[in-house]
Amino acid sequence: MSRLINKIALVTGAAQGIGRAIAERFHAEGAVVIVTDINDPVGMRVTEQFSERAAYHHLDVRQESNWQKVFEIVEHGYGRLDVLVNNAGISGFIQTPGPHNPEDMDLASWHHVHAVNSDGVALGCKYAIRLMKKHRNGSIVNISSRAGIVGIPHMVAYAASKAAVRNHTKSVALYCAEMRYNIRCNSIHPGAILTPMWDPMFGEGEQREKMMREISSQVPLGRMGTPLDVANAALYFASDESTYVTGSELHIDGGILAGSEAAPSDRS
Ligand code: NAI
Repeated sequence: MSRLINKIALVTGAAQGIGRAIAERFHAEGAVVIVTDINDPVGMRVTEQFSERAAYHHLDVRQESNWQKVFEIVEHGYGRLDVLVNNAGISGFIQTPGPHNPEDMDLASWHHVHAVNSDGVALGCKYAIRLMKKHRNGSIVNISSRAGIVGIPHMVAYAASKAAVRNHTKSVALYCAEMRYNIRCNSIHPGAILTPMWDPMFGEGEQREKMMREISSQVPLGRMGTPLDVANAALYFASDESTYVTGSELHIDGGILAGSEAAPSDRS
């Protein structure tokens, strides 16, 4: 368990779900992990379970001042950053009033989703490049989505913001290559991963079980994914096993994108 030994890694939105699994996996592989989130009590509790090779910091990815502050702490405390995982993201279903279809979409809700999912990733890339270039080494992993590749009729802000993440990843990869910074940038496209993000859509009890069965039946591999499935992909991009990989995308979706899941599900 030493694929990230001596690496300093920062993960955003790491208090729960996929971000938490990434932080845990990285820590188990020997990395120093900087856990960040806006949910401070939970983020701190998660970090307490790690060894001294971990620290928690508040980081609202929408706020440039937060990025500046945390990166100053990282530079002074560790001298460098090897890995940034831009994981924090929101669907917009609980955080905004919506609606989120293209005909009725609420502009403030659209901006809110883009501020977290798209602006947050762009700011993360900006500050990671500035620090990583000093040591001519780094890997940026951006968590996009299956929704960044296909349209989602009732989730337009989310889908557009995740498409922005996918494309920005490639621009960052090419820019860093052109500048000879030795900083790689890749995107991960999860689909149907069972995390708290689904709770507002699933409800509770029998309805939850029914919806999980329904979603699983649409996944070629017949099940929803786990946060660890995504963390394992992030580990590959973070490690030196992927030093010739940049600007690429990895689908962690049980095979959904291999088919034609872009078709609207509700034709009534
Ligand atoms: P989640 O809702 O379980 O966790 C998201 C975390 O981000 C929470 O800890 C939350 O406090 C934090 N967060 C929210 N706003 C933030 C902000 N402004 N600044 C910093 N942190 C903030 O979500 P989940 O499922 O773990 O998703 C993680 C990433 O994976 C997101 O970018 C999501 O879009 C993406 N994703 C998830 C899929 C899934 O099926 N669960 C599928 C495709 C992509």
